Amino acid sequence: MASLNLNLVVVTTIMVAYTHFYASMAITSWVIGGARGWDSPPRPNFYEEWVKEKKFVKGDYFYFIFKNHTHSFAEVEKSAFDTCNTTSIKDEDDVDTSGFMLIAQKAHTFYFVCKRHCKQGHTVVIDIKES
Ligand SMILES: *[C@@H]1O[C@H](CO)[C@@H](O)[C@H](O)[C@H]1NC(C)=O
Ligand SMILES: *[C@@H]1O[C@H](CO)[C@@H](O)[C@H](O)[C@H]1NC(C)=O
Repeated sequence: MASLNLNLVVVTTIMVAYTHFYASMAITSWVIGGARGWDSPPRPNFYEEWVKEKKFVKGDYFYFIFKNHTHSFAEVEKSAFDTCNTTSIKDEDDVDTSGFMLIAQKAHTFYFVCKRHCKQGHTVVIDIKES
């Protein structure tokens, strides 16, 4: 499995423990992009529209769902996000296998891009609030 240098934790086997831990909090599971999932956007601001009006809080779950190896996602700095500069993304940080779930562990703004399709707007900003 790719090791993610993210401030989010990739959860597979430890999911049960986390579920228990967060049971008393108002946790939401989000599928990035809703029914469309993490796919080439029909218009450049599709993911921007998707996050609008949504509130993400610490402990929320995020799913990136896409067909294996057709897309990917990686966390980047804001400056790289703004210019779609994907050259700093290391191969091991570029997740191209579907079915990943992340848990937001802290209040922070995360910038994600699909390395191959960043310029088409295949990007999302996830702003995690403390509560
Ligand atoms: C995607 O790849 C993973 C790991 O190789 C595999 O377990 C999973 O079944 C694959 N999913 C699809 C939809 O092909
Ligand atoms: C893109 O990012 C790389 C690595 O962070 C940097 O060296 C390069 O100068 C950047 N390119 C542009 C056009 O900003």
